[in-house]
Amino acid sequence: MDFEHVLVVGAGQMGGGIAQVVAGSGRRVSLYDAAPGAVEHGVETMRRSLGRLAEKGGPDPEDVLSHVHPVDDLVPADLMIEAVIEDSSVKEDVFRRADETLPPDAVLASNTSSIPISTLAAATNRPDRVIGMHFFNPVPMMSLVEVVRGNETSDETAEAITELARDLGKTPAVANDFPGFVSNRILMPFINEAVWALHEGVAEPEAIDTIAKLGFAHPMGPLALADLIGLDTCVAIMEVLRDGLGDERYEPCPLLREHVAAGRLGRKSGAGFYSYD
Ligand code: CAA
Repeated sequence: MDFEHVLVVGAGQMGGGIAQVVAGSGRRVSLYDAAPGAVEHGVETMRRSLGRLAEKGGPDPEDVLSHVHPVDDLVPADLMIEAVIEDSSVKEDVFRRADETLPPDAVLASNTSSIPISTLAAATNRPDRVIGMHFFNPVPMMSLVEVVRGNETSDETAEAITELARDLGKTPAVANDFPGFVSNRILMPFINEAVWALHEGVAEPEAIDTIAKLGFAHPMGPLALADLIGLDTCVAIMEVLRDGLGDERYEPCPLLREHVAAGRLGRKSGAGFYSYD
């Protein structure tokens, strides 16, 4: 499976980054987003990112962007990579429609960070060809792809997607279909605990992040990272962990919920634990 034509659904920070990386491998990318103007915004973000990479010897931005084709609905392709919001019913609807639109031998992948792959597979008639392909933000910079096998994902599908991840210049690591997989089962409780430390007045945000950065050699502190991921996404993932693992210790910290309720979603809304221009 060469996946010469890839349909990316969702042109936000993850979908746009995925489209950029796939286009950079020379594949044809069809980019779809239901929100008006989202694809154009996504392409502009890609242009800026590619510009930064070109300064360091990366490919010509316009060459890469020539592989990206905006589309106004789902279209047939060899592979779909879905990167819409972290809401199970929205994702299930995309998988149902993709199953009707893409050829029967196409693979349907989700960039979900926590929703069970088997739930998405159940919305299709090809559960053996449904898989998780979980990229990390910012996609052009982060080398990991967490490949998540649903209960019915075939060996052939898992091998093809693992090979594709390598061909995109990423390092694949395979996980099974548990809530939050591996990455978010580790990361989200860490972030949530940092928010509790802030909520209880243990330290100021800058101090919490400095302790994690310098103390554990993390590139960013957990609060700055939560802002990068999106605080609404953090809440959604914690809820999947809490409900899926049946353990109240995964309940999102009230301060995280307060920020989301106030529209402070992190970088994408201009403010979260920190303010952004
Ligand atoms: N496109 C192109 N270049 C980019 C870029 C992008 N989107 N983002 C950063 N860069 C480049 C910058 O231009 C800069 O280049 P130079 O060194 O040549 O100046 C370089 O990367 C470093 O960037 P900055 O100086 O702005 O800042 P930094 O050194 O802190 O690096 C970072 C930024 C790469 C984001 C780094 O902080 C980092 O790796 N942070 C951790 C990110 C992380 O943990 N992501 C995972 C989140 S979890 C997730 O996504 C999954 C989930 O399910 C929730």
